[in-house]
Amino acid sequence: MCGIVGAVDRRDVTSMLTEGLRRLEYRGYDSCGIAVLQQGALRRVRSVARVANLATEVAQANLSGMIGIAHTRWATHGAPVARNAHPIFSSGEIAIVHNGIIENHESLREELKVLGYLFESETDTEVVAHLIHHAWQKEASGDLLSAVRHALARLQGAYAIAVFARDDPHRVIGARAGSPLVVGLGDQGNYLASDAMALAGTVEKFIYLEEGDMAELTLDGVRVVDQRGNTVEREVKLQHSNTHAVELGPYRHYMHKEIFEQPSVIADAIEAVHSISADLFGPGARHAFREIDSLLIVACGTSYYAGMTAKYWFESLAKVPTQVEVASEYRYRSSVANPHTLVVVVSQSGETADTLAALKHAQSQGHRHTLAICNVASSTMMRQAQFQHLTSAGPEIGVASTKAFTTQLVALFLLALTLSKQRGRLPAAQEAEYLDQLHHLPARLNSVLALEAQIIAWAEAFARTEHALFLGRGLHYPIALEGALKLKEISYVHAEAYPAGELKHGPLALVTSQMPVVAIAPNDALLDKLKSNIQEVRARSGQLYVFADEDSRIASDDGLRVIRMPKHYGCLSPILHVVPMQLLAYHTACARGTDVDKPRNLAKSVTVE
Ligand code: M6R
Repeated sequence: MCGIVGAVDRRDVTSMLTEGLRRLEYRGYDSCGIAVLQQGALRRVRSVARVANLATEVAQANLSGMIGIAHTRWATHGAPVARNAHPIFSSGEIAIVHNGIIENHESLREELKVLGYLFESETDTEVVAHLIHHAWQKEASGDLLSAVRHALARLQGAYAIAVFARDDPHRVIGARAGSPLVVGLGDQGNYLASDAMALAGTVEKFIYLEEGDMAELTLDGVRVVDQRGNTVEREVKLQHSNTHAVELGPYRHYMHKEIFEQPSVIADAIEAVHSISADLFGPGARHAFREIDSLLIVACGTSYYAGMTAKYWFESLAKVPTQVEVASEYRYRSSVANPHTLVVVVSQSGETADTLAALKHAQSQGHRHTLAICNVASSTMMRQAQFQHLTSAGPEIGVASTKAFTTQLVALFLLALTLSKQRGRLPAAQEAEYLDQLHHLPARLNSVLALEAQIIAWAEAFARTEHALFLGRGLHYPIALEGALKLKEISYVHAEAYPAGELKHGPLALVTSQMPVVAIAPNDALLDKLKSNIQEVRARSGQLYVFADEDSRIASDDGLRVIRMPKHYGCLSPILHVVPMQLLAYHTACARGTDVDKPRNLAKSVTVE
């Protein structure tokens, strides 16, 4: 989704800004741009090409300056064309970049037209630029912070912005409401970004702005003003840049790298876990979890499927009734709050707008206990939930979530064991057995990754199809959903997932000799039922691609291809079975030549609803 970088420096900022954009590319974007103050004038370069092209154009245009802002845009209002790309100017005097959506932009646009402003773009952002310009001219007597403050008071919606003015050459203003923004403190200057990763390698000291905060950046320092207009001290966090984690290394795509990182990040997650304890979820969790009689898991996309998988664990191991809901539905639904429910929000980024709003909604409905399972320690979600558990995936760059999903599953499994133990349902021997299985999971994952060559052969066939069906049962139904999501989002093959028992209630009508059907066939209690479903597909000449456990007793035959997975791995089997789904999607996408890490229309961090 959109990304912001801003800088006020003693040196030329253009290369720092373009490098910042390069680091934000993974979030997904369809245009980009950079603006600086050069010889007393605002100058900008905007492009619908990649950041690398923008950097070339910046050099060709001889753009340079010691103050500037830059942006990657993921179009919401107005097509992804250069005139809608940010930075947006007002009257050649104000430059702004903006993440988020201004909901009342239409009425403000009409008002500003009456005041004589001409609009050059279809963006909601241009409204903000003109409002700031108007306030700068009329109300704020040359004080940029005050002008921005006046303008923001008119806005409804969610935003993070960075602004500078032609006539105030050493000041950048940032503001956030509903979209993240971080300040970087350096020796040579001060910086702004929507994600600390943009500033990795530039600074190691960060201030995470809070809701409603504004920041005034000059060469001499940074002033933070809260939503009431008071100057406030915010904690400065030291974060060493982990730049190597975002390097591609020998891989062609981040997604491939991240799939292969799963054994090591899962090993990191469980390295220090030698017994099950509520302390894994933060101070106070031990006491609060005792009060819990049910769970409500809220999330989006892949994180939602992690919640769906975990529901089986919570109900079978801990006997805790569990509901799983899509955040964008839950946030608008009138529901009945139970103060003994633990609301669990699951998110890779911790900035997903719908999940954040769902968390807020749950809290406003009277839910007392909330837990964030999240991959970004400094994220808004981690700050807003009562309890936190940091997943160990490390930076995930590919838009398609892979290692974030499997580490979420490990975290949720640990939560299920914790609740089970607290309720006296986890005898010591059983606890030791689960821990042993967790500690051996990385080795099992390596043996699944070793199946890649066979999966590549299957991907050739999937690359030629436009549709595919995924089937799973029980604990593996969410894995079928995840397999279908992975395939559609990166290869653009239309894929649907069904609980295999639902086949004859509709989707069987789609099955012909042209329809590839992926079946997940672990050797669990539902295997015989699944085998019957496989026969239903065979009888209609469907082309079956079955991932069967070593001990599932399914052999290849006409129209039935089998890849043999390791021996069945009990409760943790979904964590193994999702890996071939990821590899199948990845290699299908490669064979179709899509932009694997940045699939069309999608963004890594979905910060608008
Ligand atoms: O950062 P989050 O986990 O909250 O993101 C949720 C979804 O947007 C995300 O999982 C999305 O579905 C992925 N692109 C799936 O690969």
